[in-house]
Amino acid sequence: MIEQNVLDQLAVFGRQYFQLVDPSQLKWLEGSILKKADVQSWIFSYLFDADNISTLPPDRYRLRVLKALISKLEKAIDDPEEDPPCHEDDQLLSAFYCSGIALDLNIRNASPSNSTESPNTHTHTHFTDPCMYYEQEISDDLMTALSSLLGANVLSESESAQQKAYVTYAYPRHATSESSPQDYSVTLLESRSVISSSGTTGLRTWEAALLLGQFLCSDLGDALVRGKKVFELGAGTGMLSILCAKHLGVSGIVATDGDEAVVDAIKTNIFLNEIDASRTTVNTAALRWGWPLNANTFSEDYGMDAPDVLLGADVTYDQVAIPALVSSMREFFELKPALQVLVAATIRNEQTFQTFLNACKRNRFTMEQIEFAPVPEQIQDGPFYPASTPIQIWRITRVHTTEDAFAF
Ligand SMILES: C[S@@+](CC[C@H](N)C(=O)[O-])C[C@H]1O[C@@H](n2cnc3c(N)ncnc32)[C@H](O)[C@@H]1O
Repeated sequence: MIEQNVLDQLAVFGRQYFQLVDPSQLKWLEGSILKKADVQSWIFSYLFDADNISTLPPDRYRLRVLKALISKLEKAIDDPEEDPPCHEDDQLLSAFYCSGIALDLNIRNASPSNSTESPNTHTHTHFTDPCMYYEQEISDDLMTALSSLLGANVLSESESAQQKAYVTYAYPRHATSESSPQDYSVTLLESRSVISSSGTTGLRTWEAALLLGQFLCSDLGDALVRGKKVFELGAGTGMLSILCAKHLGVSGIVATDGDEAVVDAIKTNIFLNEIDASRTTVNTAALRWGWPLNANTFSEDYGMDAPDVLLGADVTYDQVAIPALVSSMREFFELKPALQVLVAATIRNEQTFQTFLNACKRNRFTMEQIEFAPVPEQIQDGPFYPASTPIQIWRITRVHTTEDAFAF
């Protein structure tokens, strides 16, 4: 049985893996733990079992992680340093060879001896290296997964970056003495290149959304949205809207974006997450900031009554678009004076963000920065994002007045 603290480490590793964190940044477990049969079995079953996991990372990513894993296992398996029988590289080659897998590698002097064992549900190959000096045990399942990836037509780095890939963002929930609750997770099809070939920033999820998601999963954030009608501007992949609908008990959500292709992608992502439509109304719509809202037809236009909460993550990055964004916020305050707006902003340029704050002030919005700082990268346990550039979360409300000052 795997100890709880090892399971916790595996869970962090797994969350990083399904979020496609670069293999060089993965929080690898120590070799002495990795090489245990039950740990390898867990890694295969939960991360690489293509027959049972429908939203696996792309082939290229899996291949990189598996190569690094096998290499670490090789190093960890009984101290070959003591009496090194052959060149270090040969140890990796011998593992491939000895598990009976023909790889496109130049193997010399290999004379494998195989015997299979079944420590858990999956088999391991117990074999002796070609030079017969040390014994190794690497899971057959992992070796077979590696072999099939090496045999597959894996895309180049640049091709792969342009393809859509499954990415899962997981928000761990803390275990109590009675239960260890499942993560809140959202799986999306994303384009990993920063700005996709279609020129939009909306086909991947940005760090401000990840932090706002973390806030919404906290007690304070949960209380703000649970049971409420929520509307999202510039929703991109729809991660936040889906998180709200799938896990945070909102009564309804409308995910909007100004880009039609992005809205189509949100629809796919909603479908992927199998949201229970009997509990939550989930809608999507094209909405460009600054477009007028019609109070009489709002429910018909968006499939939900005026929202209680308006969300926007990483929507304040373009100085030119800020007046239209703030105009949309005004329109929503007109519809629902008690509206609460939550904006998460990555502060790449202080002046641009100040332009947003100034426009809010001119409209007599009340702004309050929420104390919810990004988690330092070395202690993140999911989701994972760069914390070097400041990210802030603001709660914006408006005291209702009858004055109608268009103050941009
Ligand atoms: C940086 S992305 C953020 C996406 C998502 N909120 C996130 O944080 O991952 C900005 C999003 O705003 C949308 N957007 C930009 N300008 C817009 C406008 N004038 N009207 C509506 N949406 C806009 C883009 O299409 C894109 O999806």
